[in-house]
Amino acid sequence: MSKPNSPTRRGFLDFLIAACSAITTAALAIPGVLYLWPAAKGGGSQKVEVEGAKSMAIGQSKTVQVGSLAVIVVKQRSGFCAFSAVCTHLGCLVKWDTGKKQFLCPCHAAAFDEKGKVVSGPPPAPLVEVSVKEVGDKIFVSTA
Ligand code: FES
Repeated sequence: MSKPNSPTRRGFLDFLIAACSAITTAALAIPGVLYLWPAAKGGGSQKVEVEGAKSMAIGQSKTVQVGSLAVIVVKQRSGFCAFSAVCTHLGCLVKWDTGKKQFLCPCHAAAFDEKGKVVSGPPPAPLVEVSVKEVGDKIFVSTA
């Protein structure tokens, strides 16, 4: 017979199950919360200079990291444009093809035109445009 307030095997197993349940719940909930509130992981507005942008040739691109987002900056005749490099289908990273003047996604052979609109393939939406600003002789991209 066990004494009151003394640890029992059943009490220890109840504690172990509760602790495992709490850890599992936290492991599932934290990524969900960070997905729903990107600012909680520092995903707020950020501004990054595009190094060497002024020396880019027309049609040339550069990929820069703005916070957690990969951004493709393309120098076009009309000026610089920038889009999220994340394909709107399943999230693969697109690349700029200078010859075709298109953003190409290697995962499911999608193509986006130079304005980010879907030309072919399964993406349901255009690429997300990113703000580009020219300040003096520097180019900045920023996410809102
Ligand atoms: S992820 Fe880009 S086309 Fe499927």
